[in-house]
Amino acid sequence: MKSRRIGILTSGGDCSGLNSAIRATYIRAKQLGYDLIGITRGLRGLAKDEPSYVALNDQLCGDSMLTSGGSILYSDTKFMASTVESGISVADARKALSNGYKKLGLDGLICVGGDGSVQLINELLNDNEDLRIVVIPKTIDNDVSGTDLAIGFQTSVEVVVSAVENIISTAKSHERAMVVEVMGRGAGHIAINAGLSSGADVILVPEFKYDIEKVKSKVMSCFNGEKNYCIIIVAESVEASGFKHKEEVIDGVVKYTHVVYGGIGQHLVNRIKETGIDSRCVTLGHIQRGGKTSVIDRTLGTMFGVEAVNLIDENNCGKLLCYVNNKICAIDIRDFVRNPTKTLTRDDVYVRIAKQMGVYIGET
Ligand code: F6P
Repeated sequence: MKSRRIGILTSGGDCSGLNSAIRATYIRAKQLGYDLIGITRGLRGLAKDEPSYVALNDQLCGDSMLTSGGSILYSDTKFMASTVESGISVADARKALSNGYKKLGLDGLICVGGDGSVQLINELLNDNEDLRIVVIPKTIDNDVSGTDLAIGFQTSVEVVVSAVENIISTAKSHERAMVVEVMGRGAGHIAINAGLSSGADVILVPEFKYDIEKVKSKVMSCFNGEKNYCIIIVAESVEASGFKHKEEVIDGVVKYTHVVYGGIGQHLVNRIKETGIDSRCVTLGHIQRGGKTSVIDRTLGTMFGVEAVNLIDENNCGKLLCYVNNKICAIDIRDFVRNPTKTLTRDDVYVRIAKQMGVYIGET
């Protein structure tokens, strides 16, 4: 009898919890009688003339996978942009993906990816309705709409909070205003979650405009009482007058611009110093993408991994798995694509609580 085969790949920026999902997928697939292969280097690996993969086994998917950061399958970013840059059309790139699926003889594919990957999978399914694909949401940015949590977010918030605890001790000793720049692309979820749990005085997110004079007054007020230090958390994509984010232009058949964030924290330090208060910036960068996987991400990765295999086995594909109100559910990828990115809104409980805690979070 021909063996049944499922493939799994990790796509986009990595995070902690990917390996937990791979391990769970392996265990459930084996129970149901499937072979599980790990397609290496994400969509790029699938699109190759000879798709690259490893056969997953007990040794590769041992229990240490629950806690390890990164992806044992490697990951790729900007697959479509760089493919197009190399002169291949978008249609041909999609064809290469569906050919890869067929060459590997898959009965189903699990893509662990962010909002960009889901959009690409949607386009792929439009051309190839016979492909059986399920997406597991992952991203430290937590900006995948439809799900309360994506794999990797909680670990990232814990990394930030632990770093801010260290930063607070030096801020106190030197009576400084410390600006901590965090990741998140167009969403302020990392900033507001980490800011609330580390007692930040100012949290700036891309969703809300702010008044730099109000930031400066808030900083000064921290030095008027007994506190004598101040913590400002700023999300990497926050804008400022007199500051421009760097842009990387990929100049292929389709001109594609990618913003490379970094620098807003130092810009704020320069403005804060105008008050006469000493200030420093710490940019946390990619440490937010690593670290021992948090308990929540281990559980989430495990639940998503098992359910992804279940969906393929039930032939209930074309779905994005979501975690909503403490339950796992699956939404149609087409529904997701109507509104792919989840950002903070004025009605979010985090926003209200931050304000009621006296944190300056901009003009909401
Ligand atoms: O999307 C995840 C993320 O970590 C963002 O928060 C950040 O802007 C980006 O990826 C960094 O990407 P790269 O690894 O390409 O520098």
